[in-house]
Amino acid sequence: MGKSFDIGLERLTGAGLPSASEGVPYIEASRGDTAAAGGTFYLETFGCQMNEHDSEKVAGVLLARGYKQVETPEAAKVILYNTCSIREKAAQKVFSRLGELRPFEGQLAAAKGLEGDTRLNPRKVVNAGGGKIIGVLGCVAQQEGQEIFERAPWVSLVCGSASYRKLPQLIAELEAGNRRVTGLDIDTDETFETEITRRDNPFRAYLTIIEGCDKACSYCVVPFTRGPERSRASASILQEVRQLADMGYTEIQLLGQTVNSYADPSARKMRFSDLLVATAEIPGIRRVRFTTSHPRDFGKDIVDAIEDYPAICEHVHLPVQSGSPAVLRAMARTYTREEYLEKIALMKSAKRSIGITTDIIVGFPGETEGDFQETLSLMDAVQYDGAFCFKYSPRPNTPSLTMIDAIPEEEKSRRLAILLERQREIQRSRNEKLVGDLLEVLVDGKSKRENQWSGHTSSNRVVNFSSHAENILGDYVQVKVTGATPNSLIGEALTGTGAQP
Ligand code: 5AD
Ligand code: SF4
Repeated sequence: MGKSFDIGLERLTGAGLPSASEGVPYIEASRGDTAAAGGTFYLETFGCQMNEHDSEKVAGVLLARGYKQVETPEAAKVILYNTCSIREKAAQKVFSRLGELRPFEGQLAAAKGLEGDTRLNPRKVVNAGGGKIIGVLGCVAQQEGQEIFERAPWVSLVCGSASYRKLPQLIAELEAGNRRVTGLDIDTDETFETEITRRDNPFRAYLTIIEGCDKACSYCVVPFTRGPERSRASASILQEVRQLADMGYTEIQLLGQTVNSYADPSARKMRFSDLLVATAEIPGIRRVRFTTSHPRDFGKDIVDAIEDYPAICEHVHLPVQSGSPAVLRAMARTYTREEYLEKIALMKSAKRSIGITTDIIVGFPGETEGDFQETLSLMDAVQYDGAFCFKYSPRPNTPSLTMIDAIPEEEKSRRLAILLERQREIQRSRNEKLVGDLLEVLVDGKSKRENQWSGHTSSNRVVNFSSHAENILGDYVQVKVTGATPNSLIGEALTGTGAQP
């Protein structure tokens, strides 16, 4: 495998393109008229739910400035990519997008005041003279910083998530004619709160309660790209949940890289489990989800809260990463296999049937066949309801980058395939046990097939079911499970409509 951090920047600097350091104004930001002229933006998001939600906030900020969102980069004045760098493949994606936007070379010459062909780039239409603003947001922005300007000089905004609160100011600077702006501070002690968040999902409202990560897993870029942990004050969170409930949301998902490491910065000093309960008690809220939990900070208080409050969803995403004690140590995960299994036992002994999902990495440097077998045996022991499995991807700045004993790519692929197959069988058998059960489903999708709907259970299972009701989107419906596949349940709604008051 190639260098982990070779994310293809070089390929973007086409022959004949002067480098950004020559100071050529390739992209002229429009002079203060973008918003007034009804500016448009295109926003594409890569990566995790935190990124999805950050994009909702970014969209909110732009809409508040008078921009309209459009469906294609061609139609947009401002093109933004909210990027992910958790694995090499994810980071590469944005650079191939940026490559597609490279201005036609003649435009660059024209921008320099030279004779040149001013046709648009035939591969995509970025008009360098037309005042397009191209921005890279998120983890790749934070990781690569100014380097992005060097290699893709048509980019004019680079901003990491820890600096999003500065976005309105940065955009104003571009509108005022600045050619390049950055927001790359990482030691911000504020979280990104906006007046307006444009929420994409009409049924599930996401809400970040803790930003960044103070753990230091040896393979992970997040502490570098999202900065240190910062929790949002509980009163501010709960006030937003009340507003969301007033707007008609019934399901809230609390977000954080390590959501259960939440530490209320206010005098109220709410524990994470207290916050779950307080959220569940807000009138109108019927489901409270939370992700991602870190095993070290996961305790009985959270399981008790789930047991005692039906509105707190019976689902915990608890990444284990490996079943091998040695690999867990090398990963600096801060818990042992036994400690992890104790947390699982806490959940298994609860009165409610808590769905447990996880993340697993195969092929960490030095992972032996024996280590891998321990991961398989842990999967058998836990019987996960879902697992996101990844091949280890070496990332810049991380301690594991320099570890010896890299596992060959083919071996990683072999282990991944075995893991996926094992997990598929576990899910098939777990889902089959639910046939005959009656489950409450929040309906969030309508199939093209007549009378077919889909939704999620409290345990976050997908259910595809039939109902003759006219419109049950957003309703809570009782569904009888009639069949199962590894990834979803099949069922029929008990009543024509399950609409709830
Ligand atoms: N290589 C492979 N997977 C990774 N993850 C995080 N960093 C890496 C990496 N360098 C996975 C972990 C984490 C999930 C979000 O991504 O499993 O829980
Ligand atoms: Fe990365 Fe570990 Fe923090 Fe999760 S807990 S974001 S894997 S450093």
